[in-house]
Amino acid sequence: MTAAGYITDLDYIPGFYPHMSPTAMRYAASLNRVNPPKTADGFRYLELGCGLGRSLTTLAAANPQGEFLGVDINSRHIESIEKDISAGGLTNARAITSDFVSLSQDIGTFEFLTLHGVFSWVSPEVREQILALAKKHLAPGGLLLVSYNAMPGWAHLQPIRGILRQYAALRQGDTTQRIRDALNYLVFIRDKKAKYFEDNPRAAAYVDGLLKQDLRYLAHEYLNEHWTSFYFSEVASMFGTAEMSFVGSLPIHTNFWDLCVRPEFQDLFRTTSNRLVTESHKDFCANTAFRWDIYSKQPQIIENTEDRIDLIDGLFFRSIRDDVKLPHQVNLGVVTSTVQGPLYESLLSILSHESLSLPQILGHHQLTGNTPGDVIRAIDAGVAMGLFEVSANSVPGTKSAVHPPCFVSLPFNQSILKNDLLSGRPVSLASVATGTGHSLGDFDAAILHELTKAGEAGLADRVSARLADSKRSLQKDGKPVSDEATRQEMVEQACATFIKTSLPQLSRLGIVGREST
Ligand SMILES: C[S@@+](CC[C@H](N)C(=O)[O-])C[C@H]1O[C@@H](n2cnc3c(N)ncnc32)[C@H](O)[C@@H]1O
Repeated sequence: MTAAGYITDLDYIPGFYPHMSPTAMRYAASLNRVNPPKTADGFRYLELGCGLGRSLTTLAAANPQGEFLGVDINSRHIESIEKDISAGGLTNARAITSDFVSLSQDIGTFEFLTLHGVFSWVSPEVREQILALAKKHLAPGGLLLVSYNAMPGWAHLQPIRGILRQYAALRQGDTTQRIRDALNYLVFIRDKKAKYFEDNPRAAAYVDGLLKQDLRYLAHEYLNEHWTSFYFSEVASMFGTAEMSFVGSLPIHTNFWDLCVRPEFQDLFRTTSNRLVTESHKDFCANTAFRWDIYSKQPQIIENTEDRIDLIDGLFFRSIRDDVKLPHQVNLGVVTSTVQGPLYESLLSILSHESLSLPQILGHHQLTGNTPGDVIRAIDAGVAMGLFEVSANSVPGTKSAVHPPCFVSLPFNQSILKNDLLSGRPVSLASVATGTGHSLGDFDAAILHELTKAGEAGLADRVSARLADSKRSLQKDGKPVSDEATRQEMVEQACATFIKTSLPQLSRLGIVGREST
């Protein structure tokens, strides 16, 4: 069963995507010298094709001053979101069942408009509908985030989609059965060394990744009637027609070509300042397969780097951990880059204790002698290379120990912990401090749930009982653990590690509060 070629008889999987947070979009815009919408006093956020809505609801819980609207054609998706909204006590989120073309015209304008997992998977007509909606409903100066399968990274993988879809179409049964059969066929011809796989060893290896995926994800990725991987320039041209300009991309390091391509390509980038050209060079040199791009309608350009200081509010920076040592090396796909030097040493020492805004950082006595431009560049490069994190509000520095009893503050997080117990998928909890969600393995989430429900006494026994009731197995060296004593020992160790390591972090993010005793 499909609507405009998109499957509707099988629900998608719930997932939270941090790139969709206003904080991530605002920071990406500001580093590309585009003044982002202000958020402190409220904003409107629209997600088109919101699926099961985990990004929408988590962001609504993390940004109580924002108003969130999700739209999806699949009514079961919307019913599930409505349950999450009600269970989490969210008064600032709403979801409606509609296709894009019939969406009511009186929904107003939005400072943020997002679509993840939609643009490559719908027909050209539906893409036109999306562009028309964006043109009408994105507020001037607002930011739009679109993700899509990109070329040339998909070039050698495109036949995988063709094989899966064509084989599934020949099979009987429901969508789950047909994707399962198609996957088995793919593995069969890969293992028998069909010439396509022999000639494309990376495609052969890619099949192993597919085997680890949820069948619902695979059906939504590969079985829709439409499926297109775009060159960056094609998407920029479509959004250009809808009067929107390219701003930048996520993750943050993709805005720095020198972190994405090998140094021998630098002349391609140094000889042009045209961003539309450099993005294409980057995709060819890095073989990009997926893009998260930000567009804006009537972007307000920040003329000088230093002007960012006065214009941007609600962006705070802190070091990712308090024990980061320099030189810090990071490989973001193609090149290994190193962060070192006295300026970074000072920034790390300042930002491991507390998160600070740009004006606060620039006014810090430890940084006198550095120009604002140098400090801002170091912050941006540090975020790109994973040294610093960006948050919507000030977040305290690392807390040493947090002793239970403690509680989960937001009703939304409480309901997620309760309802997603040991689902086998990571759980994302909302933090008002950061304005985004933070992922926790489902096993750690079960420990947190038990800890906050009934305290530390007997914690491991209660978590073990939960495990026994669920279908979730504990793994050691990639194999399920069946021996009872080993299982108990592993659970006890996991509980102790959680209390020592994860609990202080969750407390710092305001996700866990400490009960006054
Ligand atoms: C791959 S899912 C992505 C869901 C969600 N954005 C996420 O990140 O988890 C794509 C969603 O777009 C919805 N969709 C597809 N075509 C649509 C249309 N024409 N109008 C409204 N929703 C549509 C589907 O029902 C599906 O839930």
